[in-house]
Amino acid sequence: MSGSEGQNKTKRHEFLEEMQKVVEEAKKKTPDELKLNYKGILYPSVLCSEATFKALESLEAREDDVLIVTYPKCGTNWSLQILQEMLFGLHNKEPTINQAMLEFGKPEICEYLKKQPSPRVFCSHLTYDNIPKSLLEKTKILLILRNPKDTAVSYYHFTNSNPLLPTYSSWDLFFKDFISGNIIYGSYFDHVLGLEKHIDDGNILVLTFEDMKMDLAAEIRKISDFYGLSLTDEQIQQVENKSTFKSMKEKSSGTHGKLGNFFFRKGEIGDWKNLFTEEQSKEIDAKFEESLAGTKLGEKINYSKYCTF
Ligand code: A3P
Repeated sequence: MSGSEGQNKTKRHEFLEEMQKVVEEAKKKTPDELKLNYKGILYPSVLCSEATFKALESLEAREDDVLIVTYPKCGTNWSLQILQEMLFGLHNKEPTINQAMLEFGKPEICEYLKKQPSPRVFCSHLTYDNIPKSLLEKTKILLILRNPKDTAVSYYHFTNSNPLLPTYSSWDLFFKDFISGNIIYGSYFDHVLGLEKHIDDGNILVLTFEDMKMDLAAEIRKISDFYGLSLTDEQIQQVENKSTFKSMKEKSSGTHGKLGNFFFRKGEIGDWKNLFTEEQSKEIDAKFEESLAGTKLGEKINYSKYCTF
């Protein structure tokens, strides 16, 4: 083990210990207490705070920052792993920031981030309008989409196994909240629609969970080109090997502690067919039709291919 690997293990270990404390704190809360409403959107109250949201407004972005934007359960950890492998792993370096999501930081986040060396890789589930302005102006954004039916099922299992999020007594109740957007991080559909308005700004690369499943190397190549990293075929292969579901799941207790198994559950396309009733399927089809059908991001989701029984 190299010196920096050892150092990072300690940093990661500290982070996981900190997260475990948050988990213990969360276990004492009721489902309602686990929700924080900020400007009309729900957030996990034990991870987010109004003070941090306000602090983030003055975040100073750098040209070489990397920002991954996702709605929950669309492939956040997967794309983070890929980018960290590209930027650090391939060069035997350790990631510069040891934090889950941008918005989970403490209110002193901007001072902390100022001290971190480039490149800084951020992940966020915030809607486009709530992402710090400076990041939107300066940073190249990687957006990962996933079809809404698999996203909902993944989210349902996650919210019921992760003590930091409210538990639902049934899939039917969760489904209602998913459709209405009365859920942590708000509506899937509004999240995508907010990004749709900016899709031609020129600083967003849109990939999908499904395309990553079909041909991971091809999607890794797109990320490499987008960020000007010029990875060789051999390097792409190395990144791919470290970013398979199997490889990430095997390492998950080291990377995600006790929550590891919940983050890497099945990693498949089409698991929604195990939970959706025909009626629910039709309801979400109608929701997609009225909101995202005909939009550029709606096309990317390839709804008819991935969301038909
Ligand atoms: P499932 O619950 O359907 O298994 P996020 O990181 O945004 O929370 O997304 C989690 C989802 O991505 C989970 O979906 C998880 O299994 C899946 N996932 C994570 N890493 C993956 C990988 N390397 N390959 C395929 N799926 C992956």
